[in-house]
Amino acid sequence: MNEIKHHLIMTGSTSHMLRGDKVLKDKGIETALVPAPAEYGSVCAIAIRVRKEDSDISEKYLRENDIVISGIYEEKPQRLTGLIEKIRNSVIREEFLSILKKVEEGLELSFEDIVILLKAEGTAEKEALFKAADEMRKEILGDVVDIRGAIEFSNYCRKDCKYCGVRKGLTTLERYRMDEEEIMEIVHELHSLGLKTVILQSGEDPFWTKEKIGNLITRIKKETGMRITLSLGERPREEFEYFKELGADNYLLKIETTNKDIFEYVHPDDDYDHRIECSKWIRELGYINGSGCIIGLPGQREEDIAKDILFFKDMGINMIGIGPFIPAKGTPLEKYPHGSVEMTLKAVAVTRLVCKRVYLPATTALASIDPDGQTKALKAGANTIMLINTPSKYRYNYQIYSGKNMIDLKSAYKAIKGANRQFPPYLKFDMEVFSDEPNA
Ligand code: 5AD
Repeated sequence: MNEIKHHLIMTGSTSHMLRGDKVLKDKGIETALVPAPAEYGSVCAIAIRVRKEDSDISEKYLRENDIVISGIYEEKPQRLTGLIEKIRNSVIREEFLSILKKVEEGLELSFEDIVILLKAEGTAEKEALFKAADEMRKEILGDVVDIRGAIEFSNYCRKDCKYCGVRKGLTTLERYRMDEEEIMEIVHELHSLGLKTVILQSGEDPFWTKEKIGNLITRIKKETGMRITLSLGERPREEFEYFKELGADNYLLKIETTNKDIFEYVHPDDDYDHRIECSKWIRELGYINGSGCIIGLPGQREEDIAKDILFFKDMGINMIGIGPFIPAKGTPLEKYPHGSVEMTLKAVAVTRLVCKRVYLPATTALASIDPDGQTKALKAGANTIMLINTPSKYRYNYQIYSGKNMIDLKSAYKAIKGANRQFPPYLKFDMEVFSDEPNA
């Protein structure tokens, strides 16, 4: 088997990692920034990956440039020993089985392999795919489901994305902006529940200037110390940089689709290359970078989704939100059918197998078209749930798609229990209060 061997170089800090990566690239060495394996750091630590034969010279260049190296490790392929044994008797095509065998042996999957997995047919193949992803998730991240809290603090948007229920063109939509005090009140609630991460999401709202967002970040850090994920759309590079300097940790900016034609069709105000550039800035600035895609956009095929997944891998994306398209009332796509739950689950599963050490949320969009959607996603490779904490008086007007479901602690309880998984140890709230409730 012609397997390329790699070494992972861990540096002293994010800035050393970024500077080191540049030093090596400038010397013509092929590098990639990848999430570090469990035994070498936290889930979010990023390593510089180089070919094994470039390892010694890379080390020399890094030391010459005063980059602190905290360790160099051989990249261990993530094997799933025994996977094939467990599914041997099922009705699975040879071709499909041979790809799962690659997964078992920790080999990289090709574009063609990924397409075949996404086209899994029949119960046995689909179950085998979900099982493989579930084992990979367990192997890498364990059974705890990470819970985060999202606040959708403004539904004003300067853009007209064709699928989106808060697009500028929806003139009848009642617009709202929460003020800083309202936002902080929710942040404190989340903090008192023990949550570690707050997600601040809004439309691309010019009212929320660099300075205003900056003040909010500073207050959240000072008053709660929580990790902050921003999901504010495209911004100038210096704003991404400013937010990072003030302490923002993660930035979520989805590519939505890597098919350029579809991207341009659904995003009349956006430039595909610029979106990618923003994503690169986010990575370069040392954010934990989030991306994701919508499943079931007009004209999208399995091949497009396979490219999305390889894009997430090649870009070193750490959080990948994959949800089905859901038609939103009053938008140009309102009559278009929703994306399939099954295809979404397949995409989640294959993303886990390909990108391995990443956060994969069981998305709200899935829960909105299938009451068991989140449980199913948790059993197919997902490991994160985002609660929606937008105050109820505003929530109705943040329907990026129609019938958007409410994800609260109770529904998170149901999904996590249903998938036989564990609540995060940091929760200061006893989730078992929901155990006696009917339909819990
Ligand atoms: N269907 C599914 N997902 C949608 N999003 C926005 N509108 C829709 C829709 N109609 C998703 C996009 C965006 C995120 C905030 O919500 O992926 O990045």
